[in-house]
Amino acid sequence: MNKKILITGGAGFIGSALIRHIINNSKHSVINVDKLTYAGNLGSLTSVENNLRYIFEQVDICNSIEIFRVFNTYHPDLVIHLAAETHVDRSIDSPDKFIQTNIFGTYTLLETTRNYWLNLNKEKKNNFKFLHVSTDEVYGDLGPADAPFTEKTSYSPNSPYSATKASSDHLVRAWQRTFKLPTLITNCSNNYGPYQFPEKFIPFIILNALEGKGLPIYGNGKQVRDWLHVDDHVRALLCVAFNGKIGESYNIGGHNELQNIEVVKIICSILDKLVPSKFKGIIKYEQLITYVEDRPGHDVRYAINSSKMVEELNWEPSEIFITGIKSTIEWYLKNKTWCNQIKKGNYQGRRLGTIKL
Ligand SMILES: NC(=O)c1ccc[n+]([C@@H]2O[C@H](COP(=O)([O-])OP(=O)(O)OC[C@H]3O[C@@H](n4cnc5c(N)ncnc54)[C@H](O)[C@@H]3O)[C@@H](O)[C@H]2O)c1
Repeated sequence: MNKKILITGGAGFIGSALIRHIINNSKHSVINVDKLTYAGNLGSLTSVENNLRYIFEQVDICNSIEIFRVFNTYHPDLVIHLAAETHVDRSIDSPDKFIQTNIFGTYTLLETTRNYWLNLNKEKKNNFKFLHVSTDEVYGDLGPADAPFTEKTSYSPNSPYSATKASSDHLVRAWQRTFKLPTLITNCSNNYGPYQFPEKFIPFIILNALEGKGLPIYGNGKQVRDWLHVDDHVRALLCVAFNGKIGESYNIGGHNELQNIEVVKIICSILDKLVPSKFKGIIKYEQLITYVEDRPGHDVRYAINSSKMVEELNWEPSEIFITGIKSTIEWYLKNKTWCNQIKKGNYQGRRLGTIKL
């Protein structure tokens, strides 16, 4: 059955990939609810913006009146909640927006959803779902020999970002247990791919290297992350949204554990081949690497056990890092205009929806 899917944070990196995928590969409709913070860019959605199954509403998830209006205008069958403040460094400099959006915003969305869901007719009520998109960072970090996080690992967040995401996960779980709201949660590892905001690790390294700027590495660079291509994450989210069990959470990982310094060296070696350096004195991009003071509370290692996704939902990542990162670098090389416009904030226009779904 074709569904109306309300996606929050759809102008961000993962949300826009999800919307492009849904519009291009299904008959479902999408209502994209996004405040358009510095991280939200409608330029990532130009390929679908004129599709009659897509609509954009510039709304803050903390604004209960506006969120209520959106629900009652479009009558969604499914909510996929991605809107969040997401950059760990920013959460250390200024945690307040993280508390507001990630905790209060999720609470506002849950309460509005609950009121909406309670008033649905029986059939629509039985089929309704709310998927909350979270991170593996809620589990804290691992030592080199520790087993990867499972869905049963206790929460132990270390940064203001991960603490606010953990709080929002707890709210979602409580709304399911207390009010029987049909929710699901996903906890995913680090994503990479096209259209990622240039302040994030991988695009930052690619774009700095191309501009001949330094490639700063926190601490000794030995922090381990498990990298997942954003398109694999999108497929996983839809598997959980359509086939996951209400009240459950699902870990999503890429089986690509790599140290940060290894990631930077891989990017440099691919760039050496694709764009032989033209900068004075630079023969290999690796020469641009510099080590800077580690950030406070920096998690050492994340690793995800996603066997529940494989066994229960038959999902597996289809991309491996070495080919995924090459195509990602090629995308950034072809889309320098997008990067420049994003950096200047040129794509953040106000575009209110007019199509009634
Ligand atoms: N990027 C990753 O590696 C990763 C990994 C696991 C989980 N996640 C989770 O996935 C979700 C999306 O991550 P992303 O990397 O696409 O983030 P992003 O920063 O690229 O995008 C976030 C989006 O949310 C919007 N937004 C922020 N505050 C809002 C508010 N108050 N109201 C409405 N919209 C608001 C922004 O405008 C932006 O479009 C987040 O919840 C994040 O915690 C991300």
